[in-house]
Amino acid sequence: MGLKILGTGSYLPETVVTNDDFAKIVETSDEWIVKRTGMKERRITEQPTWVMARHAAEAAIADAGLSPEEIDLILCTTVTSDYITPSMACVIQGAIGAVNAVALDINAACAAFVYALDMAHMYLQHGYRHVLIVSAEGLSKITDYTDRSTCVLFGDAAGACVVGWSDKGFAASLGSDGTGANTLFARRPLNDVPFVEQVDPQSVDGFPDVGRAGVLYMNGREVYKFAVSAMSRALKEACEKFGTTPEQLDLIVPHQANLRIIQSAAKELGLPLERFYTNIERYGNTSSACIPVGLAELGAAGELKPGRKVGLVGFGAGLVYGGCVFEL
Ligand code: UT7
Repeated sequence: MGLKILGTGSYLPETVVTNDDFAKIVETSDEWIVKRTGMKERRITEQPTWVMARHAAEAAIADAGLSPEEIDLILCTTVTSDYITPSMACVIQGAIGAVNAVALDINAACAAFVYALDMAHMYLQHGYRHVLIVSAEGLSKITDYTDRSTCVLFGDAAGACVVGWSDKGFAASLGSDGTGANTLFARRPLNDVPFVEQVDPQSVDGFPDVGRAGVLYMNGREVYKFAVSAMSRALKEACEKFGTTPEQLDLIVPHQANLRIIQSAAKELGLPLERFYTNIERYGNTSSACIPVGLAELGAAGELKPGRKVGLVGFGAGLVYGGCVFEL
């Protein structure tokens, strides 16, 4: 049993931040950013993350030709939920009137859309008919704009997909390596509880002391090394489970962390770069929103044609990775 994309949607905030804008606030240049990452612009907003999510969700449901009442399950992926509780999925369920949907969030960082798709596939096998996956990230809220090594990389966006049952197959390969948790993280700020002794979080979790809580820290080189091998491994394994090979994929939508990572993965897989969809130059890294935003753009361009074999692949904080393959 497989899975079919019934509709896609996305939301990109209006405010565009260029590489030259960054050169005004940190020691960097358009040349460095383009050469090392492939990024030229990204979008940012002060809107709550769930508002972006709502726009993308409504667009995907309309694209699927469904009404919100026909959604059985909402899976939201985000590392920047506006609330500690409730889940963003419940906030969206209420906002769009998906009164019959079960709703929950998934935190698997930049690989979360692939994790959500794999979960949707399992729910579909148990009788759920229409699953809405919404990936929304307001990364500008957790970006340290004094740290040039990270601030130029991230942007805000939301992407969504409605998926349903198909008889054309689906396979995924997911993995986690928690020993790399301290290479990419944002620590939650501590509460000042007047009655308890405060502990130094560093002394209990062994993570590097990198200043402010609440903003992203990344050891870029370590994550880079993980990313290249994880991308090709995840895609190869997913293809194997599906009964195909990477060469037979018509289209691959990868996580958009760095153009050089995508180029290296393409090389390792022996595939032409053109097979990989990229929009990194326009939006930067929007974590779990990258892949569904790409799918929505491909959908709008008429590229999600029946019969095509698609591969999706992501990796990120955790460290986690996930690849999946299905036929449109
Ligand atoms: O979404 C999943 C998580 N994200 C990723 O997967 C990202 C993975 N990592 C990367 O994409 C790359 O490691 C970066 C783009 C983050 C950095 O590129 P790099 O080629 O690995 O650079 P580097 O960290 O080795 O730094 C090289 C130099 C350093 O200067 P020194 O020490 O050689 O003097 C950095 O301080 O580049 C410097 N640098 C910058 N220079 C200008 C770092 N950031 C910048 C910058 N502008 N924005």
